[in-house]
Amino acid sequence: MGELHYIIVVTMSKFYITTPIYYVNDKPHLGHAYTTLCADILARWHEIKGDEVFFLTGTDEHGAKVQQSAEAAGLTPQDFVDTNSQKFKDAWLALNIEPDYFIRTSQVEHETVVREVLQKVYDRGFIYKGIYEGLYCVGCEKFLQTDDLVNNKCPLHPNQEPVHQKEENYFFKLSAWRDTLLKSIEEGKYAIVPEERKNEVVGKLKKGLDDISISRADVSWGVKVPWDESQTIYVWVDALINYYSATQFVPNKKDFWPAQVHLLAKDILWFHAVIWEALLLAADLKLPKIVATHGFFTIDGQKMSKSLGNIIDPIDLVKEFGVESVRYLVMAELPFTSDGDISIARLRGRYQSVLANGLGNCFSRVTNMISSYAQGKILPTVVKELKVDDFELALNNFRFDQALSLLMSWVRLVDGEIETAKPWQMFKDGKVDEVAKLLGRWSYVLLLVGKLLTPFMPQTAESIQKVLKADTISKAEPLFPRLN
Ligand code: MSP
Repeated sequence: MGELHYIIVVTMSKFYITTPIYYVNDKPHLGHAYTTLCADILARWHEIKGDEVFFLTGTDEHGAKVQQSAEAAGLTPQDFVDTNSQKFKDAWLALNIEPDYFIRTSQVEHETVVREVLQKVYDRGFIYKGIYEGLYCVGCEKFLQTDDLVNNKCPLHPNQEPVHQKEENYFFKLSAWRDTLLKSIEEGKYAIVPEERKNEVVGKLKKGLDDISISRADVSWGVKVPWDESQTIYVWVDALINYYSATQFVPNKKDFWPAQVHLLAKDILWFHAVIWEALLLAADLKLPKIVATHGFFTIDGQKMSKSLGNIIDPIDLVKEFGVESVRYLVMAELPFTSDGDISIARLRGRYQSVLANGLGNCFSRVTNMISSYAQGKILPTVVKELKVDDFELALNNFRFDQALSLLMSWVRLVDGEIETAKPWQMFKDGKVDEVAKLLGRWSYVLLLVGKLLTPFMPQTAESIQKVLKADTISKAEPLFPRLN
């Protein structure tokens, strides 16, 4: 009888995650870093789980704002964007963020796909010519409606004057998609996370939907409208298409469309939860699965942004805390779904209490005891009460802060047990086996913490595991040195 050969088919899921592509006239700040870190952590997590991952970030390089900033800097737009997009790449490198691809909208490969998609929307009858008259916020690159205004200004750019515009433009029949969008959201064809944001979008959609201008006559720095080269494509349409275009021109990524997760903050929800989906439907393309929206980092209650001049530079934080701790601190700080005020003092406080005196101290104590009371040799024993599912659930719900709190509650559990058991006393009393058992339990907890921390703090996670898996465990070097 011949042997039976089984072919084991491993079904890996595809996990495609994106961040907004950032305006290249800004310097990367902690707000941009937060979204990009969220994506990096989820990408690493899915890789650990064996999924096929594609993590995309990049820069948004066209439009009036960039054109004006380049002029002000005395550079050609291309030179300006080349220099500035590098700043984002450098920041991500400093934060150990590893995207699979960094897209730039001035890349010709991207521009080609933008033109193809728009041509398709045009051919399918969803674009017409009209006159746009109204206000425009260059800071947001957005046409403003009367009810967007606060004191006659854009609330996100209170120190800029909205520009009055009257132009002949091409319009997209956004209104034609209102019912389909409402139905798609209700039926869960795509999810808008969190629930409050979904309700906000649904509420606004129910009020009605106007067509939008999708081309500009007076902005030359952009992708030319394929059927009328006197106009350029509105920068937001050009930018949104990046999520799809990357899958078309980066080798072997075609199967990654539709994206699993678009990550962004609430400032650009409408573009991502309404306009993008309508464009995709009009181009007969598939919808993304999840639009996940987080809140803002604020400083003294105000949104951190370049135009308000209150930014924290992530590279400064790396200098102060080290890259591993910055990744931890930033992710622990914002509850994702709401805004969060941030300050260096808060970060220092958390570093001290949770990292240095928490995890770091517990790890030194346990490894020290293993070395002193058990000659460096113990057998980790399973601790059943740790709920790894809760960790995974928190990550799937984008609650990075909760996932980290859970791990730190396990560290506190160990600290508490040490205080109660007093292993030094037990050792003195000759209870060597019982001490070894407890040490086995605590090392198991710390090993698990080490493993699950991997997407957040890859190097720290690796050192924890390396020390605890050694044949002979010795007292570990401090994980988190004292701050200056
Ligand atoms: N270029 C557009 C996005 C096009 S995507 C097709 C844009 N760029 S941006 O540079 O202004 O980036 C906005 C995004 O940066 C937010 O949605 C968020 O991801 C991040 N953040 C910018 N400031 C932030 C805070 N203060 N707090 C948290 N995130 C913030 O919009």
